[in-house]
Amino acid sequence: MTITIAIDGPAAAGKGTISKAVAEHLGLAHLDTGLLYRAVAARTLTGEDAIAVAQDLSAGDLEVENLRTAEVAQMASKVAAIPEVRLALVAFQRDFARHSDGAVLDGRDIGTVICPDAAVKLFVTASPEVRARRRYQEQAAQGSTDSYETVLTEVLARDERDMNRADAPLKPADDAVLIDTSDLGIKAAVDAAIRVIEQRM
Ligand code: C5P
Repeated sequence: MTITIAIDGPAAAGKGTISKAVAEHLGLAHLDTGLLYRAVAARTLTGEDAIAVAQDLSAGDLEVENLRTAEVAQMASKVAAIPEVRLALVAFQRDFARHSDGAVLDGRDIGTVICPDAAVKLFVTASPEVRARRRYQEQAAQGSTDSYETVLTEVLARDERDMNRADAPLKPADDAVLIDTSDLGIKAAVDAAIRVIEQRM
């Protein structure tokens, strides 16, 4: 049987780290679906049309450097509000979910839209201040000089766009299990996720 695990949540809640660890622990393939929107955004920032790029996206686009910048993240949440962009990216994600070993997909709409039949759905969240603090530290370690306040403003702007768009807004699926990582370190958050998943598999 092919098992699919859907992990959604806002920026910097820890879902990327958790997804990677869960996939490794269970021997499943892992897709960070935010990379698809970031790849579309990166090419849009060079002047290409977002819808045309999404329709023509290939796995190689996900390997491009500099998809993790703050500028690309903001543009990603803008192109992600365009229904034609989202539609063009559905098949890639669903094909990945059919991976023969089973798969973990993380994003914003995996449990609600992309894989509504996923065996386990997690919604990983944390307070905006905690998420901004983590993102700030990550970016500072990479040499960014953006202040904590700037990063918090960016996190809030992205939350606002992701939660309020008409098409596939960020929200927990009705059957998702919530994990709040505000007061959890990485290991505790990963352990909590694995516990929930193993109970439901
Ligand atoms: O997860 P990450 O921060 O890389 O995602 C970048 C942006 O891509 C998000 O802010 C969101 O707007 C969009 N996204 C989405 N649906 C997904 C994954 C990401 O709309 N499944």
